[in-house]
Amino acid sequence: MGHVTTEVEAGADRPSLGDEDGWSIQMLISSEFARNPRPYYEALRHGPPRRDDLEMPGSPKTVILSRHQDVEAAFRNPQLFSSQFGQGSGSLGNDRPLIPLMIDPPEHKKYRVLLDPYFAPRHMAKLEEGLTELVNGLIDKFADKEGCEFTSEFAVPMPCTAFLELLGLPLEDLDFFLHIKEGIVRGHGKLDMEEQIQARTEAGRACYDYFEKVLDGLAEERGGGLLCELMEAEVDGQRLTREEIMDICFLFILAGLDTVTDSLCCFFNYLAEHPEQRQRIVDDPEVIPSVVEELLRWESPVAGVARIVTEDTEFNGCPVHKGDSVLVFVGAANTDPDAIERAHEVDFDRTTNRHYAFGGGIHRCLGSHLARLELRVALREWHKRIPDYRVAEGAELVWTPMLRSVHQLPLVFG
Ligand code: HEM
Repeated sequence: MGHVTTEVEAGADRPSLGDEDGWSIQMLISSEFARNPRPYYEALRHGPPRRDDLEMPGSPKTVILSRHQDVEAAFRNPQLFSSQFGQGSGSLGNDRPLIPLMIDPPEHKKYRVLLDPYFAPRHMAKLEEGLTELVNGLIDKFADKEGCEFTSEFAVPMPCTAFLELLGLPLEDLDFFLHIKEGIVRGHGKLDMEEQIQARTEAGRACYDYFEKVLDGLAEERGGGLLCELMEAEVDGQRLTREEIMDICFLFILAGLDTVTDSLCCFFNYLAEHPEQRQRIVDDPEVIPSVVEELLRWESPVAGVARIVTEDTEFNGCPVHKGDSVLVFVGAANTDPDAIERAHEVDFDRTTNRHYAFGGGIHRCLGSHLARLELRVALREWHKRIPDYRVAEGAELVWTPMLRSVHQLPLVFG
């Protein structure tokens, strides 16, 4: 059993995105798009990059890059596609640019040189034993029941607990972290734009206050963990300032907690719906590293990343203007048949799989080795203990866009 072919290949339900059909960029934030974005990706890839209106007064045009070649070119050109979006009182409730995500070259390099070693594979490998224990501890709570609510009982607590441990923060702070993460990433689910901004601002404030206190405490008495190491780390003989450490931690909450939760939701929903693919993992756990890569490519839980255009020019057939915001659709690039062989097949036996699920170029994900380890351990331990499961009949799943996750994923064990 090598691969599964999907409905996109058959071209079954590719939506038309012509303006005459009422296309609006707002579609990209719908639950339907988040549930199965691939037919939309396919439609978006037809033709050059698009330049669309967000339909909000005063907001810039948004350029959408969805072909593999466009996404690749954008990642190679951080001068034209800057990461200095969401500055100042940013849309995520941040006061300053998040480090290193919103920093352009050449300054960006200084931070990556400092941070990369902490997230190197050999460093991450030391976490495997603790992660295995954590995963089994969570599974213990529901393994002998009929099922579980996967998101809240597994996908959310697993990476968040792992992350607190990595940073050296008390596990009692888990609920607080989850609360501010939801505020920053999803504005606590508020639908009204102003209420959402308000929720993000409050969560951002709470995040800064929390880390102020933690850093005060650590200045008096050092404990273990990454945070202490960051306080002592130096680049070119200079330590990071307190503000820089806080700007890194703020990003860690966004980048390190939600993304793994999203990936777990996408992966387990896929596997619940494809029992024959799931059986591969049960029969042959050696396949897990390649399952992780293929599902990262296929699901692309972080569907797109943001950039801002720095000058008026033309980019691969599309006029772009200084100040335009850009949506770099890595999910669309990852399923582009012009660049990827059998792009619409989910194949756990691919020998090469160079996807953009972790982004590309200088901002490529700092935590990719940690994320891969977490996902591998979760898949391995789960399928040893719960090999058979499906989505509860009649469950209406609500998906969140861009950072693709499922609010509640009720699983029934076989
Ligand atoms: C499966 C889980 C993950 C996915 C899919 C993911 C995805 C991504 C993507 C697409 C980017 C590029 C952003 C851009 O170009 O604007 C990125 C950057 C980043 N990620 Fe991850 N990420 C994951 C897990 C993590 C984890 C666990 C951490 C923990 C620290 C992390 C930390 C970061 C940081 C710090 C950056 C910014 C890097 C830079 O700007 O140089 N990520 N991630």
